[in-house]
Amino acid sequence: MESWLGLDNKVIIVTGGSAGIGCNIVKCLIENNALVVNFDLKSTDQIKQKNYYFYKVDVSKKNEVDQQVAHVFQKFGRIDGLVNNAGIALPGMLINPDNTGKYELTEELFDRTISVNQKSVFLMSQAVARKMAIKHSGVIINMSTESAMGGSIGQGFYVGTKGAINSMTCTWAKELGKYNIRVLGVAPGIMEETDLRSECYEETLAFIRGISLEELREGYIKASSIPLGRAGKLMEVAEVVAFYLSEHASYLSGIITNIAGGKSRG
Ligand SMILES: NC(=O)c1ccc[n+]([C@@H]2O[C@H](COP(=O)([O-])OP(=O)(O)OC[C@H]3O[C@@H](n4cnc5c(N)ncnc54)[C@H](O)[C@@H]3O)[C@@H](O)[C@H]2O)c1
Repeated sequence: MESWLGLDNKVIIVTGGSAGIGCNIVKCLIENNALVVNFDLKSTDQIKQKNYYFYKVDVSKKNEVDQQVAHVFQKFGRIDGLVNNAGIALPGMLINPDNTGKYELTEELFDRTISVNQKSVFLMSQAVARKMAIKHSGVIINMSTESAMGGSIGQGFYVGTKGAINSMTCTWAKELGKYNIRVLGVAPGIMEETDLRSECYEETLAFIRGISLEELREGYIKASSIPLGRAGKLMEVAEVVAFYLSEHASYLSGIITNIAGGKSRG
């Protein structure tokens, strides 16, 4: 039976689909009978369906991206959707007043964050948009974050790349409209825990924010800054992404949507 979303047999690439939000997006699209291609550094044994394809790709590397996007296009004859989801969050503060340099942002962290979070979105979007333009149809969805608008203590580089993604999203929506390609951003807020929230990540953030690890973790659970009073479920992001990829959202382009339970600092 055709799914309500009408994504049956649509060819959709999801980056970073082996874990966290990306994995939920992959599962949601598979449930809606799409042909889902996951570009990730590592595979997952969580997904086994026949309409699922794993490609080992480092999306920050142009040669790998170009080669594998060409391979997908050759195999399926089209690419209907792209979800630029892969990302990393490496926390750090601009200056540490104790002059030890510990927990400070570095050039190496800057280059890595830009490369994985921002450059990958450019490389993937360019390679895929060329193919979509041939077919005069397509949807590109970029994963941002709610905190890109108002900033977030200890996450200068991370939210910086997401702010850049927001601007690229709006620009490319304007450029690609004439090829019937829609470009959208989604910006999750505080979500259920994923691998992004590693021990080192939490330790660094707690130090920078001057609170204990326990207080930081409690904050995620208490969710006092969230009007809906709870963290978001990963599937709640996936459902919006699936809807935006579908023809039900055919007049939406060039916007960034917070998926944050009403939380907003922008
Ligand atoms: N988790 C949150 O609370 C949250 C909130 C707002 C925004 N986001 C955004 O959502 C996206 C997914 O986050 P998540 O929490 O699911 O992260 P995650 O760490 O759980 O999963 C990220 C996936 O991306 C893959 N990946 C990383 N670098 C890659 C590369 N160079 N090439 C290919 N794949 C790569 C990883 O292997 C992993 O499978 C990110 O862009 C993140 O910034 C997450």
